[in-house]
Amino acid sequence: MSAPAAGAAFLAPLLAAVRPAEAQAQQRFDVPYVPTRQLVVDEMLRLAAVDGNDFLIDLGSGDGRIVVTAARAFGIRGIGFDIDPQRVAEARVNARAAGVQQLAEFRQENIFTADFSKATVVTMYLLTAVNLRLRPKLLAELKPGTRVVSHDFHMDDWEPDRRLLVGKTLYLWIIPARVEGTWRVDVGDRRFDLALRQRFQKLEGSAAIASRTARLWEGRLDGERIGFTLTYVPGGDAASIEHDDAERAHRFEGRVEGDTIAGLVTVGIGKSRRQLPFTAVRG
Ligand SMILES: C[S@@+](CC[C@H](N)C(=O)[O-])C[C@H]1O[C@@H](n2cnc3c(N)ncnc32)[C@H](O)[C@@H]1O
Repeated sequence: MSAPAAGAAFLAPLLAAVRPAEAQAQQRFDVPYVPTRQLVVDEMLRLAAVDGNDFLIDLGSGDGRIVVTAARAFGIRGIGFDIDPQRVAEARVNARAAGVQQLAEFRQENIFTADFSKATVVTMYLLTAVNLRLRPKLLAELKPGTRVVSHDFHMDDWEPDRRLLVGKTLYLWIIPARVEGTWRVDVGDRRFDLALRQRFQKLEGSAAIASRTARLWEGRLDGERIGFTLTYVPGGDAASIEHDDAERAHRFEGRVEGDTIAGLVTVGIGKSRRQLPFTAVRG
């Protein structure tokens, strides 16, 4: 009777010393290890439209299967970050076994401090709460146009650009260019101010054209590609089918490059359809 009690008493200080360290180790793992099925790995890469020019980063890379598959199938370079040294070691062995150790790199790093800037494609199989904690870092550090694919877990009010069902749900987001603010737009000899409000890939706003206000509809970013429609606020003679360009919807489609946008504006339909170049600079 007394021996175990004495043993427990003897171990107690040791356990007290060990437990906080164990707890710390557990806390560093924001997500447990669960591998993605190979079929789902392939579909994640298909959804991201990976090609031979991409650089893939897997956040929480486990045994390395996503980075290794991308290297084998597309010949692209990639990095897998995982906090667990055992997983990193396994992933390196798997990369070597697949003959892609020159392309597929694995680093023991925390995804919340790792450098994502090289990525053109990011994959993850984490948890919604972890995705949401990562969201500001993804939006701040990834280049516009970078594709982010998540296995199973979404990002709350950042709606995906695409969703794919393959037994599991896969989500695709395209990092949008940052366009919030005021822009000075030139179309032919017309110049006007455009105010844009941005919520992820969605845009709202208005334009002050001469003395009238135009409202913005269907505003959307697809990476660096921007599209929106301007119409004057309805009013006037709704009965007339004869209307000039000013009364038609103006559809703007262009590309954002830093503080400039360039593209085409389309007015009218059928025989009256016309296109004009436009440019915009940050005001
Ligand atoms: C669900 S598994 C996904 C593994 C792999 N991406 C796949 O799809 O097969 C999540 C991985 O994230 C790792 N992980 C958890 N928290 C992490 C963190 N803060 N930084 C880096 N890796 C982490 C775990 O060790 C685990 O290997």
